[in-house]
Amino acid sequence: MSANRPAAVVVLAAGEGTRMKSATPKVLHSICGRSLVGHVVAAARELDPEHLVVVVGHAREQVTAHLAEIDPGVRTAVQHEQNGTGHAVRMALEELAASGAGPVEGTVVVLCGDTPLLTAETLRRLTDAHTADGNAVTVLTAVVPDATGYGRIVREGADGAVTAIVEHKDATEEQRAITEINSGVFAFDGRLLADALGKVRTDNSQGEEYLTDVLGILRAAGHRVGAAVAGDHREILGINNRVQLAEARRLLNERLLHEAMLSGVTVVDPATTWVDVTVTFEPDTVVHPGSQLQGATHVATNAEVGPNCTLKDTSVGAGARVSNTVADGAQVGEGSSVGPFAYLRPGTKLGLKTKAGTFVEMKNADVGEGTKVPHLSYVGDATIGEYTNIGAATVFVNYDGVAKHATTIGSHCRTGADNMFVAPVTVGDGAYTAAGSVITKDVPPGSLAVARGQQRNIEGWVARKRPGSAAAQAALATREEPEGGQ
Ligand code: UD1
Ligand code: CA
Repeated sequence: MSANRPAAVVVLAAGEGTRMKSATPKVLHSICGRSLVGHVVAAARELDPEHLVVVVGHAREQVTAHLAEIDPGVRTAVQHEQNGTGHAVRMALEELAASGAGPVEGTVVVLCGDTPLLTAETLRRLTDAHTADGNAVTVLTAVVPDATGYGRIVREGADGAVTAIVEHKDATEEQRAITEINSGVFAFDGRLLADALGKVRTDNSQGEEYLTDVLGILRAAGHRVGAAVAGDHREILGINNRVQLAEARRLLNERLLHEAMLSGVTVVDPATTWVDVTVTFEPDTVVHPGSQLQGATHVATNAEVGPNCTLKDTSVGAGARVSNTVADGAQVGEGSSVGPFAYLRPGTKLGLKTKAGTFVEMKNADVGEGTKVPHLSYVGDATIGEYTNIGAATVFVNYDGVAKHATTIGSHCRTGADNMFVAPVTVGDGAYTAAGSVITKDVPPGSLAVARGQQRNIEGWVARKRPGSAAAQAALATREEPEGGQ
């Protein structure tokens, strides 16, 4: 356990986020496979705080339910009216005190729920500086190209000590020229914070309790106020609208791909490759352009995915090749080949060295080692053994209009093209089926099943029924071919 383990992390997420123009609460919008508040909670978790409290208000039922799902250890504090960031933190501390945790002693970190790019590393630098300098409060600041809208960091004296944070709306022209801004992230001494929050007033342009006023209050009381400057100002980007949402997604994706590339993944075109935070790679893998890897997708060594794959919760085995494919909840075995143009749905399990080829759809299908389904087929609710070949244009007829049924095909089978396996049905090991068969009855091992109409040729039908037609002449010409002709 780190000596700098915070007593509590408080995440502010009660605001409405009107500029998103959305029925979904702002902090529940997601980037790279995680909600905005989920990113913040994940970074906070890495600090291993004793208490992790999220202040909820707007759409609190939805936000609370989401939090319970992603991190059951999170507590929520309700802020019924959004009376400002200071008021929100007060609600969190009161909730902790009321729940029996008592007044919070030690470091309290405050974050906003809409800053998904913030890293645990930066938070740790903040708490380390806070502890090392013995501060009552340490604010995370950043120097930004455009400070409009942000609270400005006012520094005074020879040592440039932070004396106050002035909100944009309350700032003078001179203060507005300051480019160092308040990120909204702080480390506080818990006891001093609670005292100071009781003294925050609302005589500002928004009539709110500003958390930022705590700095001036603590300083006036003779306590140390410090600042830590973020190395990369983009990390503190707050999301207020969907333009910023896209920007944050691009930045986070860039960061994730950067890490992947440094760990041995060839990303051919980072600009068109999109990954979730939960995606994992082994070294020596290749991702071709236009690919989206989502959820718990894993790509094992020497595998290649893309171009144009969307893989969700899918594992790609070592040396496998997956191209132009959509897969959800599928397992692709080592050395297998999938696509181009395959659709693997949940429950698809491809064994070693299998093939799911072009225009092949699979669902809830267990496909054994070395088995191939090369072309134009639907395989649903099926178990297929090893080293079997499924003919082109085969349909596993799994649905009778009421219920789904299963098909079992053995090992070393050769099924003909254009077969229908009408489930429930079983084809034994080593069996063959004829092309064009509709298999409705079980096929014993080693048999050939033929289930199609007998062919009948009606001689001279065209000459009689379509006399003088091009077809009739073409047929006639075959009879008049001179001796020795080709
Ligand atoms: C705040 C800071 C500003 C800083 C900026 C960084 C204050 C007074 N201002 O301004 O110095 O530069 O963040 O992005 O702190 N919230 C609540 N309850 C409330 C009000 C806000 O939970 O009553 C939450 C919001 O949901 C949001 C966060 O606090 O997650 C920040 O609130 P917001 O209104 O966006 O503050 P800013 O005006 O951006
Ligand atoms: Ca904001």
